[in-house]
This record gives sequence, structure tokens and C-alpha cells, in this order.
Amino acid sequence: MRPEYRDLTTYDPGREPCAVDLSDNTNLWGPNPAAANAVRTAADAMLTRYPPVYVPELKRRLAAMLGVEPENVATGCGSDDVIDSALRALCAPGDVVSYPDPTFGMIPAFARMNAVRSVGVPLVPDLRLDVHTLLDTRAAVTYVCRPNNPTGTLFDRDALLALERNAAGAVLVDEAYIDFAGEAGLAVTASQSSRTIVLRTFSKAWGLAGLRLGFAVGPAALIAEIEKSRGPYKVNAIAEQAALAVLDEGRDWVEARIRDVVRNRALLSERLAELGLRVLPSAANFVLAVLPPGARAQEWNVGLRAAGVAVRPFPALPGLGECIRITVGPSDMVEAAIDGIATMLQQREVMSE
Ligand SMILES: Cc1ncc(COP(=O)(O)O)c(C=O)c1O
Repeated sequence: MRPEYRDLTTYDPGREPCAVDLSDNTNLWGPNPAAANAVRTAADAMLTRYPPVYVPELKRRLAAMLGVEPENVATGCGSDDVIDSALRALCAPGDVVSYPDPTFGMIPAFARMNAVRSVGVPLVPDLRLDVHTLLDTRAAVTYVCRPNNPTGTLFDRDALLALERNAAGAVLVDEAYIDFAGEAGLAVTASQSSRTIVLRTFSKAWGLAGLRLGFAVGPAALIAEIEKSRGPYKVNAIAEQAALAVLDEGRDWVEARIRDVVRNRALLSERLAELGLRVLPSAANFVLAVLPPGARAQEWNVGLRAAGVAVRPFPALPGLGECIRITVGPSDMVEAAIDGIATMLQQREVMSE
């Protein structure tokens, strides 16, 4: 048995069914009609035969959408798979992956799985990247999630580019939430660079989390290495068919849902601030609320779930304390979250009287 696996546990997002589930940042408006139709009409051979090994047609279409070449794109079974493959391809055992802390919780886990050491670098005041300290780690891979999960922060583009120019190794820019940020992201920049890889997913704005489809965009030489380490047949035929349908006919639906998120994100942020919570500015499809002194994220998780609303608790986040992350969904779900949180705050007042 690999020693570094011994105290790793299997992933448990704590996701028991709940009436209003705002815990995982997926698209809560139901399936994209184009994707649903593609799944319903999938050919029998899509079940019985192997899919294309590296889905060249999908890569071609993604490349055309982003303004890069197909050899700048590698796909995978969700962007989790692409992150895992990238760490395997870009790090030798014992190398360092560094990342701003807090960030996406799977990074240290994937580092462990690949026998790579992980080094978290706390954000500096105002939730900015500590570029110098990240550079000082001399990491084989520096991971930056932009907008950042769980804070929602859209790190300054120039700070990120400075990091990219000076990094000792590769830079992975996770743009899982870029669709909600009102900017195009760094895919083209990455494709023209020597060491930047952008990660994207169909799981969030595009609404296909259940089909598991993610991709990387970057310089052809690194993308080829990631594809080798990824292994064959990681994108199943139905996922590919659904993604192609969304790219062909489902883009308006995605754009409309992004507008819904942006509107409801502002509403949720304002209402939580009116209730007295500190809410971090978010460029993603979730908001992070800092709980009042003495409150415990895990207890709020239990209390809100009892009221039929699931959020994601973040106990003791570096520099922030006890927080909950709330996915932005349709208005009725946002109202349910606001009501549940207002009740938690009222109960707190009653108990302190
Ligand atoms: C920042 C970030 N990256 C990657 C992922 C993984 O997404 P996928 O469903 O594409 O594996 C998530 C999922 O929550 C995420 O928040």
C-alpha cells in the first residue's frame, strides 16, 4: 500500500438529500433542454461501443468557441480528472504544488494522491494573492482558482499574470466559475504561453455536472503530457453528445441562466448584508457569508438542513473564520435560504436574551 494514501479518506461532501440544495454550486435551473434532448436520443451504439478515445470532435468545437487550436485542449471526466492528470503530468513525486489558502479543497487531496507536497499560502488582506510568497515556494505547479472557491474572489488579472511570468513551474488557473465573472478568462493567453493551463468545466454554468466533463486549455506541449497521463476513454459518448448539443443549440439557455445568477447573486448578497452578515463580493455562482462571532458553521449547517436548506459549511477558514457558502439558484431557492438564515439569526438573539 502507498504510505501517502494511508490516512486519505474517500470524498464525502456530506450531501444527504435536502429540499433546497444550495451546497454544490451546480446549475439549479434544471437540465439544458438541448442536453436533455441529446441524452434522450442517444444512439444504442453510444451505450454498447467505446467512445472516441480523446473526443477530437468535441475538442475541435471547444477550440473554435475559445479561439484556440484543438491541440491546445485536453478533456477529462470532470475538471477534477483534468486537475488530477495535470498534477501527475507536471509534478514528480515529492515536488510541491502551491495554492492560495483558502481555495478549492480537492487540491491538497489530489496532491496527496499523486505523492506531491502541497503548500497553502494565505491570502493577504482584502483577499488578494500573495504573489511573492507563492513564487517563493518554487512549486512545480501553482494552482489559482479564479473566481476562487470558496471566497468568490476574482483575483486581480495582472497579479495572476505576474505570477505566471515569474513562476518556477506551471500555473494552473481553475476557471470553473469564470462564466459568472463577466470576463472571457485566460484561455487564449494560456494557449500562447509556455506554462499556463486554464481549467474549465461543464458542471457549473453549463449544467452538466452529472455527465462529468471538464477540459484544460494551454500550450500544446503541456496539453499533450496531460492527455497522456489522463488515460483513454475518459469522456463518455453521451456526455460528448450532450456537450456538442449544448455548444450547438444550448448556448442561449446557458447565457440566460448566467444572467439569472448575476441578478440573484446581488439580491442574496444584499439581503444577507441587511441581516447583518458579512458577505464577500462574489464573481461566481455562490456567495460566502462570514458567520457572527461565536456561531459555528457546522451547527448552522445542521440548523439550516433541518429547515430544508443545504449550504456548504466552512469551519475556521484562514483569515475569515466560520463561514457558509450558498449556491445562487432560482429566486424561490434564494428566498428559502434567506428565510432559513434569518431564522438562525433570530434563534441566536433569543438564546442570548
Ligand atoms: C474550483 C473547482 N474546480 C473544479 C471543480 C470540479 O468540477 P468538475 O465537476 O468539473 O469535476 C469544482 C467543483 O466544485 C470546483 O469548485
